[in-house]
Amino acid sequence: MEIISYLIYLVSSVLFIFGIKKLGSPKTARQGNMLASLGMFLAVVVTLLDHRVLTYEYIILGLIVGSAIGAVMAVKVQMTGMPQMVGLLNGFGGGASTLVALAEYYKELTHGLTFEMSTIITIILSILIGSITFTGSLIAFGKLQGIVTGKVVKYPGQNAINVILILAVIAAGIYIVMNPYNTELLLAVTAVSLVMGVLLVLPIGGADMPVAVSLLNSYSGIAASATGFVLSNNMLIIAGALVGASGIILTLIMCRGMNRSLMNVLLGGWDSAGSTAGAGAGTSPKGDVKSVDAEEAAMMFDSAQNVVIIPGYGMAVAQAQHAVRDLTNVLEKKGINVRFAIHPVAGRMPGHMNVLLAEAQVSYDKLFALEDINDDFNNVDIAFIVGANDVVNPAARHDQSSPIYGMPILNADYSKTVIINKRSMNAGYAGIDNELFFYPNALMYFGDAKDAITKLVNEIKQL
Ligand code: TAP
Repeated sequence: MEIISYLIYLVSSVLFIFGIKKLGSPKTARQGNMLASLGMFLAVVVTLLDHRVLTYEYIILGLIVGSAIGAVMAVKVQMTGMPQMVGLLNGFGGGASTLVALAEYYKELTHGLTFEMSTIITIILSILIGSITFTGSLIAFGKLQGIVTGKVVKYPGQNAINVILILAVIAAGIYIVMNPYNTELLLAVTAVSLVMGVLLVLPIGGADMPVAVSLLNSYSGIAASATGFVLSNNMLIIAGALVGASGIILTLIMCRGMNRSLMNVLLGGWDSAGSTAGAGAGTSPKGDVKSVDAEEAAMMFDSAQNVVIIPGYGMAVAQAQHAVRDLTNVLEKKGINVRFAIHPVAGRMPGHMNVLLAEAQVSYDKLFALEDINDDFNNVDIAFIVGANDVVNPAARHDQSSPIYGMPILNADYSKTVIINKRSMNAGYAGIDNELFFYPNALMYFGDAKDAITKLVNEIKQL
């Protein structure tokens, strides 16, 4: 039986790897999800058939309660609430690793077994990383949900306190490895790790939470991998390592897309919690702002040949993706070429725009990544910006005092005309004004994205 288990675990691992690979493109992402789910299903079934499982009552109870809560959450969560849901689930993963490691410790203790050094080391790592992930993720959830302050929280001696706690936990960990029966000290390490999760995530600004959530996701994988060593379960080791590695890669991609270092995010370098709380203010743009109404905008679209739509966070907030799809259809019916330019960090989570547009059945081949479309904006008649702001701010190219200086941006301003749909002149995530709105080729089309685009579509239909 054991050899069959190993073989099925191997098949599951291969399915995970292919699943992740297929997640790399929107075209194959669903298939990737299915493959990875199948891998997980096989792994769970094999684990349940293990001869070490003595009774199924609690497992079945856990399955029913957990699945019911998970299903309700998945159905109820709004697309804009996805980051906090992912954050919460990461936290549960970390918490589970801590509980399993503690259970394993007490099992060995009560059975009077002698701890192997490798076992006690992985138990401590599991508890440490799992606990930090658990409370850190709860704070991340709270910040995103508005329960905990989204501001960068700083207090005197913050870094010194963190360093002391980390050193204390390492010292205690080494002591426990040499004296594994010191239960009180292990519980103290657990408590301090839980506190560290709170202290490490609290300083991070609310708007930086998606990066923190991605990092915590990576931690939850590392914790699970450590738990895999505790339980001698190869499957858990591999799956945890995949989550750990992909989480850290995603975190770094997000940081690069924002032109920030991971340290800058973790130390709360940007007080960007509120939309107007930018740190380095940059140069304030001045000049006249021109605006258009639905009718005027419709006439401009009607005479265009080449349109690029740039969606941003505002499209997600307004849930305007369906209206945007209708606009695409109505323009295409008039023979106008419509493409979408997707910035890597548009919105508030990786792939945010792709997911919304896919939900609205916008075909993938109309979606272009920044590097694939940026050189083509000179040939574009209208760049239509829907609730995006920072990702099209030209200050990123030249204003060294701007907090987004150096961030790659979409070259919307190079188009013949730029029409910007948002509700006001308010700033976006970075809390800075956007000089693009004052450019001679820029026109503001004010209004909530869903309402404004629906009106625009109706006007275009009448032409
Ligand atoms: P933002 O710069 O945040 O701008 C969004 C704009 O949407 C706002 O200026 C807002 O202006 C407008 N808006 C809000 N509600 C709207 C509505 N109902 N209808 C129309 N417009 C609305 O967004 P972006 O350009 O997508 O840039 C994303 C930012 O988030 C970047 O700075 C990025 O670094 C950061 N970030 C991204 C991620 C990921 S992974 N995507 C993670 C962390 C941080 P009004 O209030 O005037 O309407």
